[in-house]
Amino acid sequence: MNTMIRLRDLTKRYQTGDQEIRALDGVSLDIADGDFIAIMGASGSGKSTLMNIVGCLDTPSSGSYEFEGLPLDRYDDDALAQIRNQKIGFVFQSFNLLPRTSALENVELPMLYAGVPPAERKRRALESLQKVGLGDRTEHKPNELSGGQQQRVSIARAIVNRPKILLADEPTGALDSRTSEEIMALFTELNRLGMTVVLITHEREVAEYAHRIIRFRDGRILSDDLRGAPSGQILA
Ligand SMILES: Nc1ncnc2c1ncn2[C@@H]1O[C@H](COP(=O)(O)OP(=O)(O)O)[C@@H](O)[C@H]1O
Ligand SMILES: [Mg+2]
Repeated sequence: MNTMIRLRDLTKRYQTGDQEIRALDGVSLDIADGDFIAIMGASGSGKSTLMNIVGCLDTPSSGSYEFEGLPLDRYDDDALAQIRNQKIGFVFQSFNLLPRTSALENVELPMLYAGVPPAERKRRALESLQKVGLGDRTEHKPNELSGGQQQRVSIARAIVNRPKILLADEPTGALDSRTSEEIMALFTELNRLGMTVVLITHEREVAEYAHRIIRFRDGRILSDDLRGAPSGQILA
C-alpha cells in the first residue's frame, strides 16, 4: 500500500501559566492508502490533537507532516484550507450539522465552499445521502432525524467532495450500541470501497472493526497493532 500521510517526530506543546503540556511528545506514524485505523487511549492522551493536525485543523509545534509526498510546513493557510476541503472528510461525535437546515443542504455545504455549481451540488449531495442509506430523508432537518441518522448525514457530508481520507473523532460516542454497529458497518463499507479511515474511539467493540489499532499514552504511541483480517472481512 502507498503511504498517504507520513508524520515524523511530531510534538504539540501548550503553555498554560508556567506549566508546559506536551499534548504530543514525538509521534511518528505512516498512514497508508486504504488503511482503516482506530486510535485508542485515555482521555487527555493526545488523540484529538493528533487528529486535528492530521486534518490540517491545527499545526504541530515541531516535526514533519507529508501529505502524498508534499511537506505541509511549506503550505500557507489557503493551501491548507484547500487540502482540508478537497482531501479530508471530518466526522464528529456531536455530528456538527446546521440546525433548521435540511439533510440535503447540510451535505451540499462543503461543495459550496469548493465552488461546485448548484445542479451538480444537488446531484452529488443526493448520491452521497443514498450511499449512507438516507435517500428518503433528504428534506428532513437534524431535529427530525435520530442520532444514527444525523451521524449518517454527517458522514454523507464528509464524503461528498470525495476525500482521500475520512477522520472521525469518537463518531459513535453519542450513539447506543446497536446504532454504533450500523455506523461502523458504514465505515467498513466505505473502507472496502477504497476510503482511508482513521477514527478515535474509547470502545473496544468499535475499534475491532479497524484493521489497525494504535494506542496512545501521554502524547506518545504506546502500540500500533495490525489485526489479522483485512478490512471488510471482519464482519463476515
Ligand atoms: N488548546 C489547548 N490548550 C491547552 N491544553 C490543551 C489544549 N488542547 C489540548 N490540550 C491538552 O493536551 C492534552 C491532549 O488533549 P487531547 O488531544 O484533546 O486528548 P484526547 O483527545 O486524547 O482526550 C490534554 O492534556 C489537554 O488538556
Ligand atoms: Mg479527544
